[in-house]
Amino acid sequence: MALSAASGSMLRVCARQQLPTTSRAAIASCQQQRGVASSFDSPFGPASKESTYKIPDFSKYQSKKSPRSNQVFSYFMAGTMGLASAVGAKATVQDFLVNMSASADVLAQAKVEVGLGAIPEGKNVIIKWRGKPVFIRHRTQDEIDEANKIDVASLRDPQADEERVQDPKWLVMLGVCTHLGCVPIGEAGDFGGWFCPCHGSHYDISGRIRKGPAPLNLEVPSYSFPDDETMIIG
Ligand code: FES
Repeated sequence: MALSAASGSMLRVCARQQLPTTSRAAIASCQQQRGVASSFDSPFGPASKESTYKIPDFSKYQSKKSPRSNQVFSYFMAGTMGLASAVGAKATVQDFLVNMSASADVLAQAKVEVGLGAIPEGKNVIIKWRGKPVFIRHRTQDEIDEANKIDVASLRDPQADEERVQDPKWLVMLGVCTHLGCVPIGEAGDFGGWFCPCHGSHYDISGRIRKGPAPLNLEVPSYSFPDDETMIIG
Protein backbone atom coordinates (compact mmCIF):
# COMPACT_ATOMS: atom_id res chain seq x y z
CA MET A 1 0.00 0.00 0.00
CA ALA A 2 2.76 2.41 0.99
CA LEU A 3 4.62 1.60 -2.23
CA SER A 4 1.57 2.27 -4.47
CA ALA A 5 0.73 5.58 -2.68
CA ALA A 6 4.31 6.75 -3.12
CA SER A 7 4.38 5.87 -6.80
CA GLY A 8 1.02 7.66 -7.33
CA SER A 9 2.24 10.89 -5.77
CA MET A 10 5.44 10.71 -7.83
CA LEU A 11 3.42 10.36 -11.05
CA ARG A 12 1.21 13.32 -10.13
CA VAL A 13 4.30 15.46 -9.45
CA CYS A 14 5.86 14.46 -12.79
CA ALA A 15 2.61 15.22 -14.64
CA ARG A 16 2.33 18.67 -13.07
CA GLN A 17 5.89 19.46 -14.04
CA GLN A 18 5.37 18.34 -17.63
CA LEU A 19 1.98 20.07 -18.33
CA PRO A 20 2.10 23.60 -19.64
CA THR A 21 0.85 26.40 -17.43
CA THR A 22 -2.42 26.97 -19.35
CA SER A 23 -3.37 23.29 -19.11
CA ARG A 24 -2.75 23.28 -15.41
CA ALA A 25 -5.00 26.30 -15.01
CA ALA A 26 -7.81 24.59 -16.94
CA ILE A 27 -7.55 21.46 -14.78
CA ALA A 28 -7.66 23.56 -11.66
CA SER A 29 -10.76 25.36 -12.92
CA CYS A 30 -12.49 22.04 -13.62
CA GLN A 31 -11.55 20.77 -10.16
CA GLN A 32 -13.12 23.86 -8.63
CA GLN A 33 -16.34 23.48 -10.62
CA ARG A 34 -16.76 19.75 -9.87
CA GLY A 35 -20.12 19.13 -8.23
CA VAL A 36 -21.84 22.08 -10.01
CA ALA A 37 -24.60 21.26 -12.61
CA SER A 38 -23.55 21.36 -16.28
CA SER A 39 -25.09 23.91 -18.66
CA PHE A 40 -26.37 20.88 -20.86
CA ASP A 41 -28.64 18.35 -19.23
CA SER A 42 -29.45 15.31 -21.41
CA PRO A 43 -33.13 14.22 -21.19
CA PHE A 44 -31.95 10.61 -21.36
CA GLY A 45 -29.34 10.91 -18.66
CA PRO A 46 -29.69 10.28 -14.95
CA ALA A 47 -30.16 13.99 -14.33
CA SER A 48 -33.48 13.90 -16.17
CA LYS A 49 -36.37 14.67 -13.86
CA GLU A 50 -39.17 13.10 -15.97
CA SER A 51 -39.18 10.02 -18.19
CA THR A 52 -39.87 10.71 -21.85
CA TYR A 53 -41.98 7.54 -21.99
CA LYS A 54 -45.58 7.56 -20.90
CA ILE A 55 -47.10 4.12 -20.46
CA PRO A 56 -50.90 4.15 -20.88
CA ASP A 57 -53.01 2.75 -18.15
CA PHE A 58 -54.52 -0.56 -19.29
CA SER A 59 -55.89 -1.57 -15.95
CA LYS A 60 -59.51 -1.05 -16.98
CA TYR A 61 -59.04 -3.60 -19.77
CA GLN A 62 -57.48 -6.21 -17.56
CA SER A 63 -59.54 -9.29 -16.81
CA LYS A 64 -60.88 -9.58 -13.33
CA LYS A 65 -60.96 -13.36 -13.59
CA SER A 66 -58.20 -15.69 -12.53
CA PRO A 67 -55.35 -16.42 -15.00
CA ARG A 68 -56.43 -20.06 -15.12
CA SER A 69 -59.96 -19.25 -16.32
CA ASN A 70 -58.52 -16.81 -18.89
CA GLN A 71 -56.28 -19.57 -20.17
CA VAL A 72 -59.20 -21.98 -20.46
CA PHE A 73 -61.20 -19.38 -22.37
CA SER A 74 -58.29 -18.73 -24.74
CA TYR A 75 -57.83 -22.43 -25.45
CA PHE A 76 -61.56 -22.87 -25.96
CA MET A 77 -61.72 -20.01 -28.45
CA ALA A 78 -58.62 -21.20 -30.34
CA GLY A 79 -60.01 -24.73 -30.53
CA THR A 80 -63.45 -23.57 -31.65
CA MET A 81 -62.05 -21.28 -34.33
CA GLY A 82 -59.74 -24.05 -35.56
CA LEU A 83 -62.63 -26.49 -35.77
CA ALA A 84 -64.82 -23.99 -37.61
CA SER A 85 -62.00 -23.26 -40.07
CA ALA A 86 -61.44 -26.98 -40.69
CA VAL A 87 -65.15 -27.56 -41.33
CA GLY A 88 -65.27 -24.57 -43.71
CA ALA A 89 -62.17 -25.76 -45.58
CA LYS A 90 -63.59 -29.28 -45.90
CA ALA A 91 -66.89 -27.95 -47.26
CA THR A 92 -65.07 -25.74 -49.77
CA VAL A 93 -62.84 -28.56 -51.03
CA GLN A 94 -65.80 -30.95 -51.16
CA ASP A 95 -67.89 -28.48 -53.19
CA PHE A 96 -64.99 -27.96 -55.55
CA LEU A 97 -64.47 -31.69 -56.08
CA VAL A 98 -68.19 -32.34 -56.55
CA ASN A 99 -68.23 -29.57 -59.16
CA MET A 100 -65.28 -31.07 -60.98
CA SER A 101 -66.52 -34.65 -60.96
CA ALA A 102 -68.67 -36.13 -63.67
CA SER A 103 -72.36 -35.28 -63.60
CA ALA A 104 -75.04 -37.89 -62.92
CA ASP A 105 -75.96 -38.34 -66.59
CA VAL A 106 -72.31 -38.89 -67.53
CA LEU A 107 -71.89 -41.41 -64.73
CA ALA A 108 -75.03 -43.17 -65.87
CA GLN A 109 -73.50 -43.54 -69.32
CA ALA A 110 -70.14 -44.72 -68.05
CA LYS A 111 -71.47 -48.26 -68.10
CA VAL A 112 -74.34 -49.58 -70.14
CA GLU A 113 -76.08 -52.84 -69.43
CA VAL A 114 -77.44 -54.73 -72.40
CA GLY A 115 -79.89 -57.63 -72.24
CA LEU A 116 -78.61 -60.21 -74.71
CA GLY A 117 -81.88 -62.12 -74.86
CA ALA A 118 -83.41 -59.31 -76.91
CA ILE A 119 -80.86 -59.63 -79.74
CA PRO A 120 -81.68 -62.49 -82.13
CA GLU A 121 -78.94 -64.41 -83.89
CA GLY A 122 -77.75 -62.75 -87.09
CA LYS A 123 -78.92 -59.28 -86.03
CA ASN A 124 -77.20 -56.00 -85.15
CA VAL A 125 -78.07 -53.66 -82.34
CA ILE A 126 -76.73 -50.15 -81.96
CA ILE A 127 -76.59 -48.60 -78.51
CA LYS A 128 -75.24 -45.26 -77.35
CA TRP A 129 -72.36 -45.37 -74.90
CA ARG A 130 -70.46 -42.27 -73.77
CA GLY A 131 -71.92 -40.36 -76.69
CA LYS A 132 -70.73 -42.87 -79.28
CA PRO A 133 -72.57 -45.62 -81.16
CA VAL A 134 -71.65 -49.17 -80.22
CA PHE A 135 -72.39 -52.04 -82.59
CA ILE A 136 -73.36 -55.35 -81.04
CA ARG A 137 -73.81 -58.26 -83.41
CA HIS A 138 -75.10 -61.65 -82.48
CA ARG A 139 -73.11 -63.66 -85.03
CA THR A 140 -74.16 -66.91 -86.60
CA GLN A 141 -71.83 -69.88 -86.76
CA ASP A 142 -71.30 -69.24 -90.49
CA GLU A 143 -70.18 -65.69 -89.76
CA ILE A 144 -67.79 -66.90 -87.08
CA ASP A 145 -66.31 -69.43 -89.49
CA GLU A 146 -65.97 -66.78 -92.19
CA ALA A 147 -64.19 -64.42 -89.77
CA ASN A 148 -61.72 -67.16 -88.89
CA LYS A 149 -60.84 -68.37 -92.37
CA ILE A 150 -59.06 -65.14 -93.34
CA ASP A 151 -55.27 -65.08 -93.57
CA VAL A 152 -54.51 -62.58 -90.82
CA ALA A 153 -51.15 -61.65 -92.35
CA SER A 154 -52.90 -60.33 -95.46
CA LEU A 155 -54.91 -57.77 -93.48
CA ARG A 156 -54.07 -54.06 -93.35
CA ASP A 157 -54.45 -54.12 -89.56
CA PRO A 158 -53.59 -57.76 -88.78
CA GLN A 159 -55.76 -59.07 -85.99
CA ALA A 160 -57.23 -62.55 -85.53
CA ASP A 161 -60.96 -62.75 -84.85
CA GLU A 162 -60.34 -64.38 -81.47
CA GLU A 163 -58.37 -61.29 -80.39
CA ARG A 164 -61.43 -59.13 -81.02
CA VAL A 165 -64.11 -61.11 -79.20
CA GLN A 166 -64.59 -62.64 -75.75
CA ASP A 167 -67.38 -64.92 -76.91
CA PRO A 168 -67.32 -65.61 -80.71
CA LYS A 169 -71.12 -65.24 -80.82
CA TRP A 170 -70.95 -61.63 -79.71
CA LEU A 171 -69.04 -58.99 -81.66
CA VAL A 172 -68.89 -55.60 -79.92
CA MET A 173 -67.29 -52.56 -81.61
CA LEU A 174 -67.42 -48.78 -81.56
CA GLY A 175 -69.45 -47.63 -84.55
CA VAL A 176 -66.91 -45.03 -85.57
CA CYS A 177 -65.03 -45.34 -88.85
CA THR A 178 -61.29 -45.22 -88.26
CA HIS A 179 -60.82 -43.01 -91.30
CA LEU A 180 -62.57 -39.76 -90.37
CA GLY A 181 -65.17 -40.83 -87.84
CA CYS A 182 -68.35 -41.50 -89.85
CA VAL A 183 -70.77 -44.15 -88.64
CA PRO A 184 -70.58 -47.21 -90.92
CA ILE A 185 -73.69 -49.01 -92.13
CA GLY A 186 -74.26 -52.58 -90.97
CA GLU A 187 -74.75 -55.64 -93.19
CA ALA A 188 -73.28 -53.78 -96.13
CA GLY A 189 -70.08 -53.59 -98.14
CA ASP A 190 -68.07 -56.14 -100.08
CA PHE A 191 -67.25 -58.32 -97.10
CA GLY A 192 -70.63 -58.77 -95.46
CA GLY A 193 -69.78 -56.62 -92.49
CA TRP A 194 -69.96 -52.83 -92.36
CA PHE A 195 -69.57 -50.17 -95.00
CA CYS A 196 -68.66 -46.52 -94.46
CA PRO A 197 -70.31 -44.42 -97.17
CA CYS A 198 -68.25 -41.31 -96.47
CA HIS A 199 -65.20 -42.47 -98.40
CA GLY A 200 -65.94 -46.10 -99.09
CA SER A 201 -64.29 -48.18 -96.36
CA HIS A 202 -65.33 -51.83 -96.13
CA TYR A 203 -65.12 -53.80 -92.88
CA ASP A 204 -65.60 -57.55 -92.61
CA ILE A 205 -67.78 -59.56 -90.23
CA SER A 206 -65.13 -59.15 -87.53
CA GLY A 207 -65.00 -55.35 -88.03
CA ARG A 208 -61.56 -55.47 -89.64
CA ILE A 209 -60.74 -53.04 -92.44
CA ARG A 210 -60.57 -54.83 -95.78
CA LYS A 211 -60.91 -52.09 -98.38
CA GLY A 212 -60.98 -48.31 -98.59
CA PRO A 213 -59.02 -45.51 -96.88
CA ALA A 214 -59.61 -46.43 -93.21
CA PRO A 215 -56.27 -47.43 -91.66
CA LEU A 216 -57.45 -49.54 -88.71
CA ASN A 217 -60.07 -52.06 -87.66
CA LEU A 218 -63.13 -50.82 -85.81
CA GLU A 219 -62.24 -50.32 -82.17
CA VAL A 220 -63.40 -52.85 -79.57
CA PRO A 221 -64.48 -51.21 -76.29
CA SER A 222 -64.12 -52.82 -72.87
CA TYR A 223 -67.09 -55.01 -71.95
CA SER A 224 -67.92 -57.99 -69.80
CA PHE A 225 -70.56 -60.68 -69.32
CA PRO A 226 -71.73 -60.73 -65.70
CA ASP A 227 -74.05 -63.63 -66.66
CA ASP A 228 -75.21 -65.47 -69.78
CA GLU A 229 -78.01 -63.00 -70.51
CA THR A 230 -76.28 -59.72 -69.79
CA MET A 231 -73.46 -57.68 -71.22
CA ILE A 232 -72.00 -54.58 -69.56
CA ILE A 233 -70.19 -52.12 -71.77
CA GLY A 234 -67.67 -49.86 -70.06
S1 FES B 1 -64.91 -41.66 -92.69
FE1 FES B 1 -65.30 -43.67 -93.20
S2 FES B 1 -64.26 -43.93 -95.00
FE2 FES B 1 -63.81 -41.90 -94.53
